[in-house]
Amino acid sequence: TFILGIEGTAWNLSAAIVTETEIIAEVTETYKPTVGGIHPREAAQHHAKYAASVIKRLLAEAKEKGVKPSEIDGIAFSQGPGLGPCLRTVATAARMLSISLGVPLIGVNHCIAHIEIGIWRTPATDPVVVYVSGANSQVISYMGGRYRVFGETLDIGLGNALDKFARGANLPHPGGPKIEAYAKDAKKFIHLPYVVKGMDLSFSGLSTAASEALKKAPIEDVCYSYQETAFAMVVEVAERALAHTGKKEVLLAGGVGANTRLREMLNDMCEARGAKFYVPEKRFMGDNGTMIAYTGLLMYKSGNILSLEDSRVNPSYRTDDVKVTWIQEEKM
Ligand code: ATP
Ligand code: FE2
Repeated sequence: TFILGIEGTAWNLSAAIVTETEIIAEVTETYKPTVGGIHPREAAQHHAKYAASVIKRLLAEAKEKGVKPSEIDGIAFSQGPGLGPCLRTVATAARMLSISLGVPLIGVNHCIAHIEIGIWRTPATDPVVVYVSGANSQVISYMGGRYRVFGETLDIGLGNALDKFARGANLPHPGGPKIEAYAKDAKKFIHLPYVVKGMDLSFSGLSTAASEALKKAPIEDVCYSYQETAFAMVVEVAERALAHTGKKEVLLAGGVGANTRLREMLNDMCEARGAKFYVPEKRFMGDNGTMIAYTGLLMYKSGNILSLEDSRVNPSYRTDDVKVTWIQEEKM
């Protein structure tokens, strides 16, 4: 089976063709805001500008590997969650391809794609997933036909919280890696608000308090304390999800997962509980076309395809809205 998938929920336009076992090709064009954060309309214009060339290059690469357009069985696209204008641009490209190749359309939930690619590219089989990216922060696990959200941010995603703090400190976008670098040179821990409500998280107060702390403390100490506090909150919720589900694996997903301190803290928690900790290769953690193509393939094979009329995008598409048709119940 060959599935072509297109990702474009935010800053990355990326398309890939995969089979059950192989990535045939992947082509990516990244939108980089000149100042500040992502402007949804500018990002969408970027995707519109590059959509045709990305698909053309993808098909050319596939052809070199001996895969012809006529062999493609379905077109998958990120249907949500994400920025409306970006989602609509990508959906339009996907509809066009589906019509011109005469193959079905598959609407993929972006968050679930982050999970499925991690399960594909690591030994994890039935993990508690810690999904921390720019816009999203959720602790997720499969149960009874859905990926259930055990805990999530009540305000902004961890990546956006880090980026917001970094912008206030005049650091370039994205802020996460810069904060990580400063944290390595810290001398002192500063108390910052630690907010876990039930199983849910809140990062916006923490981010504001960290910006305030900059007036009195060195940036290294603030970055370090911000990381320690935010990551401890994430680890606490992940640990409780492990305890609650009785699962034995943790899988890290999303762009913030690049952070080595977060990995270390999750790994320590897993070791203490006798659970396994898995992190996919970095290229599969941020947004990528391969994750959409691969999740599309799982959906296609379980008959989960879309009619054109049902192909509207959903900027607030929730992880637990998706009926997981591709996992057999006996796995539980
Ligand atoms: P989503 O649509 O799933 O919310 P996204 O479009 O925000 O994803 P990702 O690539 O998943 O994109 O994540 C980007 C975020 O990851 C940015 O907020 C960035 O600051 C953060 N990030 C990247 N590297 C690091 C790092 N080393 N430490 C902390 N955060 C990082
Ligand atoms: Fe993402």
